[in-house]
Amino acid sequence: MEVIGSLLSYADGHRERTGRPFVTLSYAQSLDGCISARAGEPLALSGPESMRLTHSLRAHHDAILVGIGTVLSDDPHLNVRLVEGKNPQPVVLDSRLRIPLNAALLTTDSRRPWICTRENPDSERVRELEKLGARVMVLPSTSRGQVCLSSLLNRLGEMGINSLMAEGGARIITSLLLDRLADFVVLTIVPAFIGGMRAVSELGQSDPQRFVRVTNPRYERLGGDLILWGRLG
Ligand SMILES: NC(=O)c1ccc[n+]([C@@H]2O[C@H](COP(=O)([O-])OP(=O)(O)OC[C@H]3O[C@@H](n4cnc5c(N)ncnc54)[C@H](OP(=O)(O)O)[C@@H]3O)[C@@H](O)[C@H]2O)c1
Repeated sequence: MEVIGSLLSYADGHRERTGRPFVTLSYAQSLDGCISARAGEPLALSGPESMRLTHSLRAHHDAILVGIGTVLSDDPHLNVRLVEGKNPQPVVLDSRLRIPLNAALLTTDSRRPWICTRENPDSERVRELEKLGARVMVLPSTSRGQVCLSSLLNRLGEMGINSLMAEGGARIITSLLLDRLADFVVLTIVPAFIGGMRAVSELGQSDPQRFVRVTNPRYERLGGDLILWGRLG
């Protein structure tokens, strides 16, 4: 699909120019902008063709980012199973190191996660996670006590990560948009109304000039879903 070529052309040389990975925001939502029926519960939204596209997108990124909320509700593997390709490095935002020791990311064959937390983490918890092969990355925190995304991107850039795919959940999507840190978006739009947990909340903008926009958006039907993609301005 054309989306991959478009994304690769924008991502080319991005880290060299900015010091940060190229960030692709990619998730599945309903027509009313929901990513799950109820907060904290998984929902298989995408059709099989869109799921394959998601796996293909994963294979074209060096790393994949989710929040601890998604790990606790979905227990994801974040690997590439439906297409040929390399598994991206999982990165989890987890200020309080709440990731369960039996999480799939810590116990299955895939690459062990990098777990991003704030300063002064519980050293015993860090030891337990490192024993399971995880890497705990300590980063500055925001005024809300969460991991500073800007610092994370700088760190990942220093570590040689050229591209990062952010899959969610809602709080991570909202933070990335609020801080204007996503470079590209690939949305799977599922033609259904759910009335559940919204992907994006409270961006606090009423001036249309300041909305986060997709410049020159492209779209294509894939199976029963619609894929929309483009550069974020
Ligand atoms: N449809 C899709 O494509 C899709 C994809 C992914 C997830 N989901 C759904 O999304 C839901 C989970 O979303 P969620 O909002 O509850 O959880 P989330 O966005 O996955 O994780 C949010 C948590 O990450 C931590 N965090 C650390 N630094 C942060 C930062 N700078 N900004 C925001 N959060 C930060 C916070 O917990 P601490 O304060 O403890 O660090 C925060 O509560 C689930 O129902 C899941 O099924 C859907």
